[in-house]
Amino acid sequence: MSKTVGILTAGGDSPGLNAAIRGVGKALQGHGAHLIGFRDGFRGLVENRTLRLEGGALSGILTVGGTILGTSRDKPHKMHVGGETRDMTEVIAQNYQANHLDALVCIGGGGTQKNALRLLDAGLNIITLPKTIDNDVALTDTTFGFDTALGIATEAIDRLHSTAHSHHRIIVVEIMGHRAGWLALGAGIAGGADVILLPEIPYRMESLSEAILNRVRQGKNFSIVAVAEGALPKHQASEMRAAEERKANSDNKKEKRQAKEWINELEQRYADHTVMLSHQLEEATRLESRVTILGHLQRGGTPSAADRLLGTRLGAACADLVMDGVSGVMVAARGERAEPVPLRDVAGNKKRVPTDHAWVRAAREVGVCFGD
Ligand code: F6P
Repeated sequence: MSKTVGILTAGGDSPGLNAAIRGVGKALQGHGAHLIGFRDGFRGLVENRTLRLEGGALSGILTVGGTILGTSRDKPHKMHVGGETRDMTEVIAQNYQANHLDALVCIGGGGTQKNALRLLDAGLNIITLPKTIDNDVALTDTTFGFDTALGIATEAIDRLHSTAHSHHRIIVVEIMGHRAGWLALGAGIAGGADVILLPEIPYRMESLSEAILNRVRQGKNFSIVAVAEGALPKHQASEMRAAEERKANSDNKKEKRQAKEWINELEQRYADHTVMLSHQLEEATRLESRVTILGHLQRGGTPSAADRLLGTRLGAACADLVMDGVSGVMVAARGERAEPVPLRDVAGNKKRVPTDHAWVRAAREVGVCFGD
C-alpha cells in the first residue's frame, strides 16, 4: 500500500523551506508515496486546508523564498478559535485520520519542535526538520535559513561601513536571532564589526564605549556595533536569566506560565534596547550614532545555495525515514550526514552560543569587543 504523508511549515518563514518541501515531496514520489501540504502551519491542520503536493506543485519552487504552504505561529494546544483559546489537538488527530496520513512532517524552529512533540505524544507519527534563521535548534549543526540570513546581514554590515566611515559615525546594527546570538556573531565577524553584542555575553556600557574611544585614539573615527536583538546589558541580562531559569526549573504549570509571562514582559520592556544603546553611546563617546534594524529583510528573498542544498538533503533523508516507518525524530544535519535525533531531546532545548565557542575566540583574537 502506498503511503500518504502530510507536511506543514510553522513559525517564522525562512529561506530554504521550499527546497525542503520539494526534497521531501520529490523523494517520496520516487518511493511511490503521496504528499499533502497543510496551509499556514498548525492552523491549516485544524481547519483541514490542504494542497496536494504532486507533479507540477513541486516544480519551480527550489529557488523561491518563503514557503508555498504559508506559515503561522499558531500552537495546536492554544489556538485562537472563535474568540477563545482552545486546545485543538483532538481536531488535529481527527484530520490526520481523515486524510489517511501515515506520517506528518513538521518543519520549523524551536517552537515548532515543541508543538510537534505534543502531537507525537497525542499518538500521531511525527517527524520534523530544523529551520530557522536563528540557528538555535538543539542537536543539529545548523538549520536552513541561517546561511541566507547570514549573507544578508553580512552584506548590510559591508554597506554600513562606507557610510559610517564617511560621516565618522557609530552605526549600531540590530540583527535578528531571538535570544541566540549566532546570526549577529557570524555576520559581525564576516562583516568586520568592531563590537559584537550577544545575548550569551551580557555587556557593560563602559567596556564598549571604551573600545570605541580606543579606536578614535588610533585615528578611526567610526565604528560598527553589531547587536543581536536579544543582547542585554549585565543587570537586565541577569533578570532575564532569572526568568528563564524559573521557567526551566519549575514543574508546576502555573509557575511555568508565570515565568513565561515574565519573559514576555521583559522582552517587551527591552524591545527598543538598540535605540537606547545608540543614545548612550553618543553620550559616552561624543560621536554621532545611527541605528539600522535589519528586521525581516533577513528572512526574505532567494535562499542561498547552501540553504537549498541543506533543505534538499534533509528533506530527502526525511522521506527515506518516513518510508522506513521512523517517527518521533528530527532529521538533523551532522557534518555531511542527515541523522535522526529523538524529538524529545530537541524540544525545549535551545542551542545558544557557548561563550568559549571557536567563533567567539577567533573574533576576540582579531580585536572584536564583546562588551564584557
Ligand atoms: O525565529 C525567527 C525570527 O526571525 C527571530 O529572529 C525573531 O525574533 C522573530 O522570528 C520575529 O518574529 P515575527 O516574524 O513574528 O516578527
